[in-house]
Amino acid sequence: MSTLETTVNGLKLPNPFVIGSGPPGTNANVICKALEEGWGAVICKTISLDAGKVVNVQPRYARLRSRKSGEIYGWENIELISDRSFETWLDEFKQVKDKFPDGILIASIMEEYNRDAWHEIVERCQSAGCDAFELNMSCPHGLPERKMGAAMGENPDILLEVCGWVMEVAKRPVWAKMTPNVTHIEDPSRAALRAGCNGISAINTIRSVLGVDLDTLRPEPTVEGYTTPGGYSCQAVMPIALRMCMEIAKLIRAEFPGRTLSGIGGIETGNDAAQFILLGCDTVQVCTGVMKFGYPIVKKMKEELLAFMGKHKFERLEDFKGHSLQFFTTHADLVKRQTEARAAKKAEHDRQKMIKSDEEWQGEDFVKQSDALSRG
Ligand SMILES: Cc1cc2nc3c(=O)[nH]c(=O)nc-3n(C[C@H](O)[C@H](O)[C@H](O)COP(=O)(O)O)c2cc1C
Repeated sequence: MSTLETTVNGLKLPNPFVIGSGPPGTNANVICKALEEGWGAVICKTISLDAGKVVNVQPRYARLRSRKSGEIYGWENIELISDRSFETWLDEFKQVKDKFPDGILIASIMEEYNRDAWHEIVERCQSAGCDAFELNMSCPHGLPERKMGAAMGENPDILLEVCGWVMEVAKRPVWAKMTPNVTHIEDPSRAALRAGCNGISAINTIRSVLGVDLDTLRPEPTVEGYTTPGGYSCQAVMPIALRMCMEIAKLIRAEFPGRTLSGIGGIETGNDAAQFILLGCDTVQVCTGVMKFGYPIVKKMKEELLAFMGKHKFERLEDFKGHSLQFFTTHADLVKRQTEARAAKKAEHDRQKMIKSDEEWQGEDFVKQSDALSRG
């Protein structure tokens, strides 16, 4: 009998499906709803000590739909981190932990380049009962203007220093969330892991411009006629997320065995999750998928992942975690393998052309059959 239960950095999760930071974890109300529906853990919307500086606009989402079915497959947002006060959040963390003592609650936190501020946010969140942290080093819009989010995550030196500050005081597991808006995601990941972070989460949204309205000639989402580049998520980003998770998983295996990886980006089904786990993820996060389909989607995802495991006779997630990493190689190696395989196929083909009795001689293949009989 297969099980989805898993232990990640000492946290016991009933399943690997985690609510990714964003609107689906934006207050105690919805966090409790997620835990009631059976999500394995919840990461709250990113919080900071001073929410007073956070001012959101509307509209702040724009979506791409399939030309044929109309289904949404791409989603851009220009939403900032939580605009709710830190004190309110601490109260709500306590409420959630009172109601769900075994539910895994992960605080997504972000601060400016200031050691005291990072110490304060970590210490106060863990006192309020949070089970773990995710460091948002990756939001691509709005916050980089204040040298936060992706501005830190794009710079491995700053990341090493800031993650180091967090690890000085953290008594709970810490995941660092990576921005995909870099050339080599291994570099910031390595910095966070060197600083002692217990795991990596990847990816945050991809910096994007969703499109231009051909009637108004204004880029979207349009706010008072203008826009600013935002973050792209949903099904369309999954191939990019898979590639980046593969690269981080290889880094973890080579240099930081035992550290963990939480895969994020376009996950909507149990089969999507299976692919991230095959590429080395311990958990998977879903954000836009919940905004499209609602919290109950987790039931179907669990069933689909269990069906996949049953089909392959995997009992635990560890039985297939990282299994498909071994099948990545260089292009030169692909060419070598294909040349060898084609030669082997030709030899087999020629062998089959060999006659076993004189009745098999044929007019069209006569020369080939003669050739084949002249080889051993
Ligand atoms: C509307 C919206 C708001 C988001 N807010 C946050 C946030 O506050 N903190 C964060 O770390 N990631 C945030 N994200 C990024 C998601 O957690 C996730 O990394 C990304 O959207 C890719 O996963 P998905 O395709 O499942 O949404 C947000 C995403 C969306 C769509």
